[in-house]
Amino acid sequence: MADLNQDTVTDAVIAQMADTPDPRMREVMAGLVRHMHAFAREVKLTPTEWLGAIDFLTRTGQACTPYRQEFILLSDALGLSRLVNLMDDTANRVGEATETSLLGPFYRESSPTFGYGESIAVHAEGPEMVLFGRVVDEGGNGVPDAIVEVWQTDADGAYDLQANDPSVMDMRGQYRTDAGGNYAIRTLVPLGYSIPMDGPVGAMVRTQQRHGFRPAHIHMLIGAEGYRELVTALYLGDDPNIDSDTVFGVSESLVVRPVVGAEGSPDPSVPSVRYDFTIARRAAHDTSARVGADPSKLAAE
Ligand SMILES: [Fe+2]
Repeated sequence: MADLNQDTVTDAVIAQMADTPDPRMREVMAGLVRHMHAFAREVKLTPTEWLGAIDFLTRTGQACTPYRQEFILLSDALGLSRLVNLMDDTANRVGEATETSLLGPFYRESSPTFGYGESIAVHAEGPEMVLFGRVVDEGGNGVPDAIVEVWQTDADGAYDLQANDPSVMDMRGQYRTDAGGNYAIRTLVPLGYSIPMDGPVGAMVRTQQRHGFRPAHIHMLIGAEGYRELVTALYLGDDPNIDSDTVFGVSESLVVRPVVGAEGSPDPSVPSVRYDFTIARRAAHDTSARVGADPSKLAAE
């Protein structure tokens, strides 16, 4: 046998994995090994640092619960989620479809349903705003019966998942577009928020002297039969951190500014945003565009 040295160990590992039957798995794992080894060589990773990383990742996993996904948060804070999101958008975004954004760690399946113009604020209180417009196809035709899911922080910058009783849903819901593709959502003005700073990811962000804030935003997940699911978010343009999102989710086309007296608003006396979402026809090869998940689907109780 040949003695391994620091230049030959990488190829030895890849050779041993070469019989992996699934070609995609083989490709991904070979790439992972190649880049992890290159990373260790580049930074001259020491045994102490290696163990520190194992400890950090162990604590990251231990911080995960059905109501908290610290690994998604880590991916978000390192920009990996955004990279995956951007690559998927580039590969699959069709025509003029609305730009996508991160699903994030606070999405929950089976949120309550609301009628046109009803408010998702069941328990929370604060200044109100209205979000309205149409869901249209690439030809600008309204898409009827599309499901518009929305979730956001309350006026204090907290998601229901971060409340005393995270099993109670608030500030989230599902709407259906009418025959013309119209939707209208009454909600509270969301507040920008700090990512959870009491876990290992927060400690990392603090060590890097980053502010840890996301600009105020409203998450949206829009789906209709035969169309590609749209995962996006609208960002409030007057937020002080609009240009320095800790998880890199903002795009210019998703920045909005609520105004009183907006034409067509179901309640023009309330600051309103009109935003039309364009969704694209589902392609034959389509896969999920969700960069994120309901935490309860990833971690057992
Ligand atoms: Fe969020």
